[in-house]
Amino acid sequence: ATAQNKVTINASEGKHVISRHIYGHFAEHLGRCIYDGFYVGESNAKIPNKNGVRLDVVEALKKMKIPNLRWPGGCFADTYHWKDGIGPKAKRPTIVNTWWGGVTENNSFGTHDFLNMCELLGTEPYLAGNVGSGTVQDLTEWVQYVNFEKDSPMSNLRQQNGRQAPWNVRYWGVGNEAWGCGGNMKPDYYANIYRQYSTFMNPRVGKEHIFRIASGASDNDYTWTETLMKNIPGSMMEGLAMHHYSVLSWGDGKKGSATQFTDQEYFKTMQQALLMDELIEKHSAVMDKYDPEKKIALVVDEWGGWYNVESGTNPGFLYQQNTMRDAVLAGATLNIFHKHCERVRMANLAQAINVLQAVILTKGDKLLLTPTYHVLEMYNVHQDATMLPIDIKSEDFTLDNQKLPAVSVSASRDKAGKVHVSLVNIDPTKPQEISVDLKGVKAAGLTGRILTSASVHDHNTFENLTKIKPVAFNGAKLSGDNLTVTLPPVSVVVLEL
Ligand code: AHR
Repeated sequence: ATAQNKVTINASEGKHVISRHIYGHFAEHLGRCIYDGFYVGESNAKIPNKNGVRLDVVEALKKMKIPNLRWPGGCFADTYHWKDGIGPKAKRPTIVNTWWGGVTENNSFGTHDFLNMCELLGTEPYLAGNVGSGTVQDLTEWVQYVNFEKDSPMSNLRQQNGRQAPWNVRYWGVGNEAWGCGGNMKPDYYANIYRQYSTFMNPRVGKEHIFRIASGASDNDYTWTETLMKNIPGSMMEGLAMHHYSVLSWGDGKKGSATQFTDQEYFKTMQQALLMDELIEKHSAVMDKYDPEKKIALVVDEWGGWYNVESGTNPGFLYQQNTMRDAVLAGATLNIFHKHCERVRMANLAQAINVLQAVILTKGDKLLLTPTYHVLEMYNVHQDATMLPIDIKSEDFTLDNQKLPAVSVSASRDKAGKVHVSLVNIDPTKPQEISVDLKGVKAAGLTGRILTSASVHDHNTFENLTKIKPVAFNGAKLSGDNLTVTLPPVSVVVLEL
């Protein structure tokens, strides 16, 4: 058959680097993400750990190349008082986790635990500060506690608590979802609050110039972005956030099952996922008006599929399974981030373990790598590589007179000169043949890996951990400057040329 999908890789036009930080993750004190996910406690003899952090988690996330990790929330961040989580664990106060299940938080996983864990993971921490219920002083002192080297009350306290050298944390969120759980603020009000907080978060504390990220818009709230860009000087803000989840409905219990979804629900999830392209374009256009040189990064610090919780689990814990739907959602979204890499320089998938679109699920001492994990691991070849712009003409994936592009493609050249092409077919009903004009790519060879399964509903379980895993791909043919690729229904492929 003649390929209906046509792609051109404009290999000589690569200008912008795909920051590895768009491959970031998110760890909130929510459900079983921290406790029973990352952290099982120092006294746990059954699960191998270092200072309470699961070593199988560390190994898996290192292999995936996790570049940064956002903590402690989310909504939790604006209820969190960091001083509750330092010093001897037995003496730490408890608090109620009001957003997530109303459970008691014993603060046994605090600043030292998190930042030391980031060192173990070889990942950069991204701390989300409490603006909603905290004070300017609290946040300023947190910056000093973790970043200040010389003699000072906060650095001395850190040293008393066992840590000599500062951690030099670069990424700082100034509140979270200030329009909602972070304080239900209006954009004008938050812009002023942001200016106040960021003024005192001295950017020169420690060795690093810190990177302050303003709490950003929800989905298509362009007024939020406009108001912040207009009212906050570029010298006070290094990043501006935006959150977009692929969700069917925000009503309680109306998000559909993570595994037993209908064709219509599948289509709608993909529609929501691909909407990311338009959202980024429009938020970027607003940012361009005030920051044409693109100095301020657009930080998509929460994204992913959000479904009903698994039956029998706490509705406040947001525990969901993860299928091939999530794999293609992740692949297509990362391709969108690549396309916009000049402006989108950081993103965080929500969330790393046991919450929403997780890369890892745990059950006792067992650890499950989800289809989403495999996509992030396969795609890590794009981290810090130069994005090669592409032209694409895709066939439609249609349902009930509605259509979406079936195919999504992205390409980059890494520092060693290797070109990687990631391709996604979201159509669960048919394979897609793609003709790729390599236009200037000197292919040194052709190898690839594929992630697919017979049904879009397929997923890994604790009984069958490896039903879905990447395998060698032999559906691509190279002939001169042309590459022909046949993608099976619902599949993600990464090629190396
Ligand atoms: O990721 C779950 C929640 O979604 C986060 O806590 C919040 O920021 C968002 O509304």
